[in-house]
Amino acid sequence: MAMPNKQSIRLVEVGARDGLQNEHLTLPPETRVQLLTHLADAGLRTLEAGAFVSPRWVPQMAGSDQVFKQLPMRPSVSWTALVPNLQGLEAALAVGCQEVAVFVAASEAFSQKNTNCSIAESLTRVQQVIDRAKAAQVKVRVYVSCVMGCPFTGRVDPNKVADISASLYQMGCYEISLGDTVGTGTPAATKALIAACAQQVPVAALAGHFHDTYAMAIANIYAAIEAGVSVFDSSVAGLGGCPYSPGATGNVATENLVYLLDGLGIEHGVNLDALIETGEFINAALGRKERSSVARALLAKHRTGA
Ligand code: HMG
Ligand code: MG
Repeated sequence: MAMPNKQSIRLVEVGARDGLQNEHLTLPPETRVQLLTHLADAGLRTLEAGAFVSPRWVPQMAGSDQVFKQLPMRPSVSWTALVPNLQGLEAALAVGCQEVAVFVAASEAFSQKNTNCSIAESLTRVQQVIDRAKAAQVKVRVYVSCVMGCPFTGRVDPNKVADISASLYQMGCYEISLGDTVGTGTPAATKALIAACAQQVPVAALAGHFHDTYAMAIANIYAAIEAGVSVFDSSVAGLGGCPYSPGATGNVATENLVYLLDGLGIEHGVNLDALIETGEFINAALGRKERSSVARALLAKHRTGA
């Protein structure tokens, strides 16, 4: 399929949630607010700012209420929160959150490890969250994890992902983010996945969330763009991972995604230099080396003046 002309892509920045939830260091809310503010200054418009999950399960996300209380309100920016259940949703509503993301998995083993319940139970939780969120006029996005493989049980059938996505869409979520949690997917598997999902859900309601463990994320995004997907999740400096997905590394780096889109002439609204500076800020705060290949190359170029 030919790449459509003049397309624009919406980026969902998950660095402050997916990016920080798997780090050894738990950053204070003030540093997380600085990170999010720099990212918004760089042009990102949808940013997952924290998670109202159990602090016993993910201590790094404790203090998300403080993050939300300190975030600058900007009409053009949507600060969103990850919630696993009604309790998390109520905590998000209490700090004025206008959009939440809830999550389910296409693998029973991962569902149990990550949320202590079966897929069927998690779908009931999602329905409860959607009903309550709608009453509060809050938008709901849903992640489906393990769409191209499970860290515990391996291959996942794309038709199973499509069936779960169809149920979620009928429940009333506005977008379904397809999560390659482990990062084992390839472009061919991505195309098969989108084709299966698009039979049951409008492609405009699908987003891609690719972890880059096998360095396939950019290739998978390209395949997904060709298949008509126009929303992608990414993480500044390639931070990220799920504490319940052993061996998985970070999300696709936002810097790498922006560089790809620039090369394709696709609009995205993000300033790459400001993004790279933000990556340096968060890497310094975490004591991390730069993981975005694009940021590394451009920083080296600036240093040598080449
Ligand atoms: P549970 O232990 O079964 O919960 O955990 P419970 O309902 O039995 O309650 C037990 C205790 O947890 C109670 O406290 C509750 O109040 C508390 P206690 O009475 O014992 O003091 N609790 C909560 N506390 C704070 N916030 C809440 C909440 N709910 C209950 N929302 C639960 C079930 C879902 C809560 C737990 O398993 C959990 O928090 N899991 C989240 C795991 C997680 O955050 N994983 C990473 C995010 S998902 C991801 O990374 C994938 C994604 O990026 C896409 C991809 O890459 O594929 C999105
Ligand atoms: Mg993830």
